[in-house]
Amino acid sequence: MRVAILISGGGSNMVALARSMTGDHPARAVLVLSNTDGAGGLARAEDMGIETAVVDHRPYKGDRAAFEDALHNRIVASAPDLICLAGFMRVLTEGFVSRWQGRMLNIHPSLLPKYRGLHTHARAIEAGESEHGCTVHEVTPALDDGPILGQARVPVLPGDTPDTLAARVLEQEHRLYPAVLRRVASGDKTRIDL
Ligand code: GAR
Repeated sequence: MRVAILISGGGSNMVALARSMTGDHPARAVLVLSNTDGAGGLARAEDMGIETAVVDHRPYKGDRAAFEDALHNRIVASAPDLICLAGFMRVLTEGFVSRWQGRMLNIHPSLLPKYRGLHTHARAIEAGESEHGCTVHEVTPALDDGPILGQARVPVLPGDTPDTLAARVLEQEHRLYPAVLRRVASGDKTRIDL
């Protein structure tokens, strides 16, 4: 199975996914694509010998359909079977999602359905949660929705800031996303709980 990984930032989840796809793993990373050339993950992907691409959203100035066409065409050029969104910070419309439905995964830093959207760690602390975590799910047109494929939980500790909590969750993201990918790449969409 060929996997394209979409990023916008440092790409630590991308690295965890790419590192996992070796040996007897049923998948290989064939493309790392960013919507900005400033994404630190691009250099990390190149260091790992993975093809990279940038489809910058800015020239499209609000024409989401044109941006998504360009994105789709560049992805198709690498012929992936599956897309993993890994800190890809553009909302994708139904037009794009429907072309990849059932073949696109996302990781989100909360225990969905709680805290869709941004600033999840600050919102969990603000709400007095004792537990927080991350979710890998199939992407459907509704934001941060879609069938849940796995979750990992962490405690919220006294004195936590959004940054300390984010770091604790991110460690779990790096365990959860490769575990779910391995299972999905083997044709099994049974949920994983870590
Ligand atoms: C991760 O925490 C991921 O869950 C989050 O962005 C971070 C990317 O970090 N994704 C979202 O918030 C998606 N809405 P990374 O670039 O180091 O993998």
